[in-house]
Amino acid sequence: MQAGVPGGVPVFPPGFLWGVATSAHQVEGGADARGRSVWDAFAAEPGRIRDGATGAVACDHYHRCDEDTELLRALGVSAYRLSLSWPRIQPDGRGRIDAAGLDFYDRLVDGLLAAGIEPVPTLYHWDLPLALEEQGGWLARETADRFADYAQAAVDRLGDRVGRWITLNEPFVHMAFGYAFGVHAPGKALMTGALPAGHHQLLAHARAAAVLREAGRTVLLTNNLTPVEPLREGEDAGADADREAARAYDALHNRMFLDPLLLGEYPDLGAYSPTGRSPLDGAVLPGDLDEIHGSADALGVNYYNPTVVAAPEPGDGLPFALPPYTDRHPGTPTTAFGWPVVPRGLYDLLTGLRRRYGDRLPPLYITENGCSRDDAPDASGRVADPERCAYMEGHLRALADAVADGVDVRGYFAWSLMDNFEWAEGYTQRFGLVHVDFDTGRRTPKDSYAWYRAWIEGRRGSD
Ligand code: NOJ
Repeated sequence: MQAGVPGGVPVFPPGFLWGVATSAHQVEGGADARGRSVWDAFAAEPGRIRDGATGAVACDHYHRCDEDTELLRALGVSAYRLSLSWPRIQPDGRGRIDAAGLDFYDRLVDGLLAAGIEPVPTLYHWDLPLALEEQGGWLARETADRFADYAQAAVDRLGDRVGRWITLNEPFVHMAFGYAFGVHAPGKALMTGALPAGHHQLLAHARAAAVLREAGRTVLLTNNLTPVEPLREGEDAGADADREAARAYDALHNRMFLDPLLLGEYPDLGAYSPTGRSPLDGAVLPGDLDEIHGSADALGVNYYNPTVVAAPEPGDGLPFALPPYTDRHPGTPTTAFGWPVVPRGLYDLLTGLRRRYGDRLPPLYITENGCSRDDAPDASGRVADPERCAYMEGHLRALADAVADGVDVRGYFAWSLMDNFEWAEGYTQRFGLVHVDFDTGRRTPKDSYAWYRAWIEGRRGSD
């Protein structure tokens, strides 16, 4: 295969999916027509969301989905990663299924298929039904079974037309931001006490995977993954401590969600808790790891940036510190969010996964990759975002290089189709290929939309 030719035209495997991604709570709005989620409650607490915004209207995709399907068709994508809102389908997270909620996704799926686009739904992108949070949320083991019931309802209705399903989005980020640091819903700051929320998500994934496989569907789990490096290396004073901290961070961010799935065991997390006991003691019951092991047919990878790790200061309460990436790599460009732009990190991540897991690594899909900018239309109405075009091209070339070096990658989804509700940042971080005016709902394709359309068009021959 001739992929990733420097400066030339990268070639991707036949059938490679070219897509964009969104998630329900970030784009749908239509809050009156669904149950309440943890994000509705969190956003209602003063000071939680940067601009005081909520996801009640967002991009109003719930009412504008035909217009958005047309934007997808004109973009030329072969696939669209959306998420299903659990509280829209099952308002209380248990029991009654809301047929009208399923009707919405039914119509959306049909519209996408009619436009020649494969829908790739994620069952859970952080919008837990509030009623379940009130019974412990992801700290409660029972949530895993409720999730499997919900998966059953979704696949019963959509499974005849949807082949590839993603169970969960980024269980690490959900656990860390939602339960360890309290900066996302449900706003709990339990530090390493949050780890059971990670295990219960993996168990939920495994139980939903069993339901999806029973229906003959393909199962993916999407993780946020990051290549990790210590701040200091070599003989520097403190380099050993930084390396140890980097190992700890890698174990918590990456390996905690891959090792059980691919190897059937957790990395040793005991060393990283203040008591020396694994924070998972008591949460992992006999048989859990057998259920989780091998429960994904493919992995979704969300890549945004690499991470530099330093030893913690005494009393930090965590086994690592996260200095700015530029402390180690001065001059690295950053996005509006301040995230370092490092396309090579995607190559390092993918080839590193292959090295670590060898033949146990299933096929991969890049299920998110993108950057935020302060985009606004100019006087002529154009939204010029050259940095986003360069970001995408850099990452796509790095991806092609990883493919050329033997990593089995089957698709790429840019984050995001359109600007949307960026969680604790509200509407202040714009990731879209399409600009959204949040006062009017008006959509304006940015230059990056045309750039990606041309990129996809240029890849057609490789199929
Ligand atoms: C990953 C999350 O899945 C998505 O919801 C979020 O908008 C992007 N990262 C950007 O932060």
